[in-house]
Amino acid sequence: MRVLGIETTCDETAAAVVRLKPEGGGEILANEVLSQIAEHQAYGGVVPEIAARAHIDVLDRLILQALDNAQVSVAELDGIAAAAGPGLVGGVIVGLTTAKALALAAHKPFVAVNHLEGHALTARLSGGLAFPYLLLLVSGGHTQLVAVRGVGDYLRLGATVDDAVGEAFDKVAKMLGLGYPGGPHIEREAERGVPRFDLPRPMLGRFKPDFSFSGLKTAVRLEAQRIAPLTGADVADLCASFQAAVIDTLVDRLRAGVRLFGERLGPCRVLVVAGGVAANAAIRRALTRFCSESGLRLVVPPIPLCTDNGAMIAWAGIERLMLGLNDDMTFAARPRWPLDGAADKAHHGKA
Ligand code: KG4
Ligand code: ZN
Repeated sequence: MRVLGIETTCDETAAAVVRLKPEGGGEILANEVLSQIAEHQAYGGVVPEIAARAHIDVLDRLILQALDNAQVSVAELDGIAAAAGPGLVGGVIVGLTTAKALALAAHKPFVAVNHLEGHALTARLSGGLAFPYLLLLVSGGHTQLVAVRGVGDYLRLGATVDDAVGEAFDKVAKMLGLGYPGGPHIEREAERGVPRFDLPRPMLGRFKPDFSFSGLKTAVRLEAQRIAPLTGADVADLCASFQAAVIDTLVDRLRAGVRLFGERLGPCRVLVVAGGVAANAAIRRALTRFCSESGLRLVVPPIPLCTDNGAMIAWAGIERLMLGLNDDMTFAARPRWPLDGAADKAHHGKA
């Protein structure tokens, strides 16, 4: 089985071809990603209209490139999958409509994939990971803890009530005059800084594994204003303090998530981390330490598969097709689409 996956929910245009291996797991035959960072840089964040336009400009070429690299023709595909949300609706429509048109013209099954399900199932692409497991999704648009019980079977244990963690990195970087996206800049500054500022650890100790980063971001702003003008060392120290607070919060919320997972599903044995923030080495070190102390196996897919990509959409498409779960052409773009139907309306997307 070979499936084309298309991803256009945010600021990456991506197309990939993944093959289901006979022994299980997938083989990535092509994985093309075009980042729009340059287009959005001047604005310090993603501008929805620019994103949608940029997806239109490059998507067809990117799909052809993916098919070419995979040495697969459209006729040879077994299905076409596209992320149908959650995300910026203009961009989602570009990918979804393209996938539907291809599927219709080539008489192929079409799969509308939840972008979050793509992140949730990526760890199974390399094979061998069985359900259930706990997913920590930390990206620019999402921060959630999800119990992954099976394909299409998710229980959201907690989520951010305001900013996503990557969004907090981006906003703090912007206020300190660092570049976009902010995560890598803050990480670099933090390495040479000292966490000398006493910043809040939002939600610490709460039973429900929710997150909050907006107050922490404001606390950084207030500190920066208090000690202005900032020297280079001040900026590094603020970054180190911010990153330390984020790490403490993530680990504490994870502990609450593992406890809740245990209550709802039985003992938690595996933690999977996904999303661009997983690129942060200090955060990965803290998660590694937490997992070894808690007797959990930590699975972090390679960084290019943690950030937005087409292979995760193609793989989720394969997992769904294997269960006979394809969709019809009436499937509409969903700017908001919680993984877990029962999840509350406070779900935070980038839209
Ligand atoms: O998953 P992703 O590529 O895109 C979506 O948000 O969907 O995640 C991007 C986010 C940005 O907010 C970026 O600042 C953050 O991931 N990020 C990092 C690092 N690299 C990227 N955050 C902290 N440390 C990093 N090294
Ligand atoms: Zn994502």
